[in-house]
Amino acid sequence: MSQVVDSIVDKVTNLGLSNTLPGSSEKPTGPTVYVDEGTGSDDTGDGTSEKPYGTVLGAMVAKGQDVSILTRKQPTDEWAAITPTALKKAKKSYELHEKKMKKAAENKEKLDKEAAELKEREAKKLEESKKIQLVEDTSLPPATKVKIRGCANYHEKRVRVFGWVHRLRQQKENTFIVLRDGSGYLQCFISGKLAQTYDALTLTLESTVEIVGTMKPVPEGKTAPDGHELIADYWKLIHAAPSGDDAFSNKINEHSDPSLLADYRHLVLRGEKAASVLRVRAAMLGAFRTTFEKLGVLEVTPPCMVQTQVEGGATLFKLDYYGQPAFLTQSSQLYLETCLPSLGDVYCVQESFRAENSHTRRHLSEYTHLEAELAFITFDDLMTHIENIICDSVEILLADPVISKLVYQLNPKFQQPKRPFMRLDYRDAIKWLNEHGIKREDENTHEMVDHVVGDDIAEAAERKMTDEIGVPIFLNKFPRELKAFYMKRVPGDEEYTESVDLLMPNVGEIVGGSMRISDMQELLEGYKREGIDPAPYYWFTDQRKYGTCEHGGYGLGVERLLAWLCDRYTVRDCSLYPRWPGRATP
Ligand code: 4AD
Repeated sequence: MSQVVDSIVDKVTNLGLSNTLPGSSEKPTGPTVYVDEGTGSDDTGDGTSEKPYGTVLGAMVAKGQDVSILTRKQPTDEWAAITPTALKKAKKSYELHEKKMKKAAENKEKLDKEAAELKEREAKKLEESKKIQLVEDTSLPPATKVKIRGCANYHEKRVRVFGWVHRLRQQKENTFIVLRDGSGYLQCFISGKLAQTYDALTLTLESTVEIVGTMKPVPEGKTAPDGHELIADYWKLIHAAPSGDDAFSNKINEHSDPSLLADYRHLVLRGEKAASVLRVRAAMLGAFRTTFEKLGVLEVTPPCMVQTQVEGGATLFKLDYYGQPAFLTQSSQLYLETCLPSLGDVYCVQESFRAENSHTRRHLSEYTHLEAELAFITFDDLMTHIENIICDSVEILLADPVISKLVYQLNPKFQQPKRPFMRLDYRDAIKWLNEHGIKREDENTHEMVDHVVGDDIAEAAERKMTDEIGVPIFLNKFPRELKAFYMKRVPGDEEYTESVDLLMPNVGEIVGGSMRISDMQELLEGYKREGIDPAPYYWFTDQRKYGTCEHGGYGLGVERLLAWLCDRYTVRDCSLYPRWPGRATP
């Protein structure tokens, strides 16, 4: 092969096409290098005819200028010596390249030197900083220990605050900390000697600190939470959070995978959004309690460990209760019903458990269930009550300026629901779905087909309808066979029940309720229809024996209500430590 190549080189040299520059008698003495502009590669080529380079410049960069270059445009062409013009051009580019490389090397050397000097200076500064010890000045007026939320009352006064470093900005002379103590966020300005201590120079996010200083409004043109800041005259590190790989911001950030965020929920909770949702949640529960109190509905606390089902055996979490089968409650409804003769209208806020294998954005395995039960009411009264509970509680919530601000930060487009809510009969909803081309999947053929009366409207179709209508909907009077054993039939329309789901835009069903069967015989038939042994329900059945009454109630999924209120994509973001299939950690 190399003999063949040598003869080609000789031939082209004899034709006056050697690599010698015009006007120069120099002839390259270096090896022959191959360049295939079509398929060669400067990265993977080695200059042989089998592995040619892709450009003449690439060949020169790798082998130097003193080479005999054979080129071709593509593998089907013959190798030919580079033309003098091309060689001249390539040499020029090579020289330019060399110059650039030299400059880059010089720059790098300079930068390396500067970095080394900076490192040295910083190490020295850090060493020096260890000598600075802060002492609180006892001649200053005494500082009042306050929570951040109370700082607005202490302008121009000295305060002492404790908290976590939520945000940190270190400048040459000063350090800005946004401190978080759970009651609020406070900008703290640390300057002079205070910003030169070892602890100040090595401070990390999520470290705990004590800061003492004077509260001042922020200078004009500057911003800070609540428009004020603490000008520190003393501070102390309580505990340093890690830096480097273990640093808070390296553990989780907004780009982290959802399953990692779930594992680190305990750290996610320190973020502003997660904390805001939990704050709104607390306020919402408070608002509900206020509304119930105003209406004279009493709070009770039913048990979580039960031996009866409410919403079907398929979603029961079973447990061994001293050798007997028991379950985690699906709903406290049956217990609430037993309270009516004793305490009157009652409600509870209790965890409910559903062992369904649903991985949707609105299903949890454990959720907070707000349930109420009301005596001597009609179906219409029930819907009006649910409407009032929601609207009144949202009004109370939004009347709190701090919470209202959080709600609108999380959900800028939030619109207070207007009374009365739309009431849509189940059969009219089926019609509506068909008129609007919203179909369901046929179980057998998997084709998309029209809905028919009797269908359990699937989550997707229900959402489409709710989102399109765009207002809260009381979807009511579901067929008997779709609903639980305890639901009262519509008088005169016995195949349907006095049942209602409240559907909210973006979330779907947030409330499920009904009137209850008040007649003992009818209830016994209900057990039978659902294949339920009535024996363990004796106490529930007794309600129909010892003075029955027309009554009804409902259950509201607190996380679903919050997903609607705070515009969260999933109910998982509305629970402190959400549980879903396979997830019970942390
Ligand atoms: O419609 P459900 O199953 O009704 C009951 O449990 C009745 N016994 C309540 C009653 O009348 N006292 O559930 C009521 C509400 C639903 O509308 C939904 O908001 C919520 O509870 N819910 C869930 N939330 C999160 N994850 C789940 N897996 C839920 N299942 C129901």
